[in-house]
Amino acid sequence: MLEPNSSSVDRALDAIRAGQLLAIPTETVYGLGADASNRDAIQKIYQLKGRPTDHPLIIHVQAPPTGSKNLEKEWLSILSPWTRHIPESAMILIKHFWPGPLTLVFEKSKSVLDCVTGGQTTVAIRSPAHPLTQELLRRFGGGIAAPSANRYGRISPTSAADVEAEFPNNPDLLILDGGSCEHGIESTILDVSGEGPPKLLRPGSISPTMIKAGTGVDVVSGLSTVNQPRVSGTHLAHYAPHTPLYLYSESGIASQLDPLIHKVPQAKFAVIVWEHQLSHYRTELEAFLSNLTLIAIAMDSALFAKQLYRLLRDLDQGQYEGIFIPSPPKTEAWDAVRDRLQRASFGSGPSSSSHASS
Ligand code: TXA
Ligand code: MG
Repeated sequence: MLEPNSSSVDRALDAIRAGQLLAIPTETVYGLGADASNRDAIQKIYQLKGRPTDHPLIIHVQAPPTGSKNLEKEWLSILSPWTRHIPESAMILIKHFWPGPLTLVFEKSKSVLDCVTGGQTTVAIRSPAHPLTQELLRRFGGGIAAPSANRYGRISPTSAADVEAEFPNNPDLLILDGGSCEHGIESTILDVSGEGPPKLLRPGSISPTMIKAGTGVDVVSGLSTVNQPRVSGTHLAHYAPHTPLYLYSESGIASQLDPLIHKVPQAKFAVIVWEHQLSHYRTELEAFLSNLTLIAIAMDSALFAKQLYRLLRDLDQGQYEGIFIPSPPKTEAWDAVRDRLQRASFGSGPSSSSHASS
């Protein structure tokens, strides 16, 4: 692991140039990176992750230096090796949100390797906001292709130690330690490759309402038009812990727990509750309290997103028979968290790898 010091980016750069794998910190989650123009290096990503080769990767690019006079021209030159065409609305989004947790899917240029795009005619690109990774990208000059640095179907890593835990003692993987991730869930993905408004392929911390408010650009849902799993996270089972994960509604938790505890009276469960309802649940679940670890969390979608994968990883180590999480409010602010929770709950449990690769 490379500690964040003055020589760590030098060593990271050597690894990327040599076609090796490098885990990179970003503001969303850690990525499993390799030189986007090196076919052999890209194969290593698919191999280590265990990801099907038709699931395309995101290419990470540098941002122009702050204070650039002609931002649009600089972005065009950074993107020109990868994209065929940048629609006007996409440039507005780029200028407003990059570097940041937003991935855009463009028509790809001829030179982009098929193995990066899973054979598709489009390419996903984002400029991550993490300063170490920006420094690396600027000095490298090229693109770094990187999916989240977890084994296929599993929880994305939000710290360097999480990456190490996913791929323990792997001499072929260097990890650039950039601390804990600021957002904690993967970027918002918009398809800007077609005619018409950008289509939302994966919700993230930048919501359609924020995009409209910040730029005036309308975003439409792209989820229903996806007939193939172009976004691997759109598989029903994903982001999953080994421990079974149950979502509960406000009234439903006692009736969900009752039969489980009846069956195995010694069983331990972790129950996440909204902070403002903690005393309510202490009373409601009184009969079961010796079986439960109650964890109070504030009802704040950004904070919840930031803690979610950390919490799931930690609870997964905790010998629980199950993890209970309250269903988030059905509002747009919670779309990204709800999306991850639903997939995590569908893919959870010891036999989940069979769901996850379906
Ligand atoms: O925040 C993030 O996006 C993180 C960090 C590391 O940048 N990356 C990430 O990568 O979440 P990954 O591979 O786990 O998810 C990226 C998604 C994939 O599900 C992939 O299918 C989708 O982006 N994607 C990539 N290229 C695409 C394309 N041409 N069209 C549609 N979806 C694409
Ligand atoms: Mg992923």
